[in-house]
Amino acid sequence: KAALPQDLHIRPLASSDYRRGHLSVLSVLTVVTDPGEAAWVAQFNAMRAAPRTYYSIVIVDHSDKIVAVGTVFVERKFLRGLGTVGHIEDIAVDKSQQGKKLGLRIIQALSGISENSGCYKTILNCSDSNIPFYQKCGFEKKENEMAKYA
Ligand code: ACO
Repeated sequence: KAALPQDLHIRPLASSDYRRGHLSVLSVLTVVTDPGEAAWVAQFNAMRAAPRTYYSIVIVDHSDKIVAVGTVFVERKFLRGLGTVGHIEDIAVDKSQQGKKLGLRIIQALSGISENSGCYKTILNCSDSNIPFYQKCGFEKKENEMAKYA
């Protein structure tokens, strides 16, 4: 497994992380609309209310500021003997920290959570430009993504 630089550490997302720059790190990924802290905490609590379903993790620096984020969502199925699938979502590393293996470390941690939860596979969607990154994380290209926006 990739080691983290000494001044950084990895931990689960906490209910106080709105104040530690969670949304600003996510904004390197896509458009983020700030819902305010109360609504952010309500969403955090709603996700936690579904046990063993959402696992969000963060990497923080020496001042506890968030520098990388990621989530795995555990989907229950009727097939594969009532199997489960891990969906990796919303991976983002702060611009100033990209290229230092933090993304790899986040993916390793989320894949480990998925495997330890008994998921028979772990999947994700990404742009063509991120394919080499996920290949370096041990993933392979399979099938196609389809989307329909509301
Ligand atoms: N193209 C080719 N290789 C890449 C790329 C890329 N775009 N990104 C990383 N790599 C390589 C690195 O060079 C490194 O290779 P090495 O082991 O040979 O040195 C390896 O992949 C691991 O890279 P990390 O240093 O761990 O990458 P980083 O910490 O920068 O994280 C990430 C990669 C998450 C894509 C980051 O750059 C980022 O946040 N980008 C913007 C947001 C984004 O695109 N997120 C992913 C969306 S897909 C999803 O969320 C499921």
